[in-house]
Amino acid sequence: MSVHVCGAQQARKEGVFDRFVSPWLVHGACSLPPISEQRQKIVPLAEGVVVEFGMGSGLNMPFYDANKVKKLIGIDPSKALMNKAHVTAKTMPFDVDLHIVGAENTPLEDQSVDTVLVTYSFCTIPDNASAVREARRVLKPGGQLLFSEHGLSDKSSTAKWQNRLNSLWGKVAGGCHLNRNVETLLLDEGFDIAEIEKKRMRGVPGLLGFNYRGIAKPR
Ligand SMILES: C[S@@+](CC[C@H](N)C(=O)[O-])C[C@H]1O[C@@H](n2cnc3c(N)ncnc32)[C@H](O)[C@@H]1O
Repeated sequence: MSVHVCGAQQARKEGVFDRFVSPWLVHGACSLPPISEQRQKIVPLAEGVVVEFGMGSGLNMPFYDANKVKKLIGIDPSKALMNKAHVTAKTMPFDVDLHIVGAENTPLEDQSVDTVLVTYSFCTIPDNASAVREARRVLKPGGQLLFSEHGLSDKSSTAKWQNRLNSLWGKVAGGCHLNRNVETLLLDEGFDIAEIEKKRMRGVPGLLGFNYRGIAKPR
């Protein structure tokens, strides 16, 4: 099976932190067992032509059901993380295209994919409303957006601290937001929520532990 990488030439120049430190921090934090547990529940639902927004180091790849996926397209502006994803992509039993670009500018045709998968990336994508609109544009009628994301807690005392510490956290955690409400984001940008589970993940620090996992469909 083939792997293509696009956009490496145009990718923004990354500093020492982005090239050598951030990939390991992101990969390490995203490999926590409670997060892998969520991946195990959502990723196997992907089918057909699948696009992953914020593919990162490719931690979702081992969870795809190879009998259901025709092709996988990864979108992420981080060249360093996509280099890590490339290593896993070469072992996959289906074709993988990797695009080093932000999801706000997804380089795909309208109505060309069956599934958009987003895990732990709506927190970091700077203009996540644009990214959701791109998801809606590229999805075929009847397609699905699968998501598993940490975000704004339903507990007011936790939400208060998430709001207070959000900007400080963003500075030390590569632009990650603590307080994004993924359900509201999807509803505001033209999706209906077909299924959702919102719950506190055990084993993840409190401010990062409230998880939204589910399936959304273009309205
Ligand atoms: C916390 S990591 C999650 C990675 C991966 N989805 C996972 O579950 O392990 C957040 C990812 O969002 C990516 N990201 C940042 N800005 C983005 C953008 N504009 N479009 C798409 N992805 C973006 C980062 O490069 C990083 O890979």
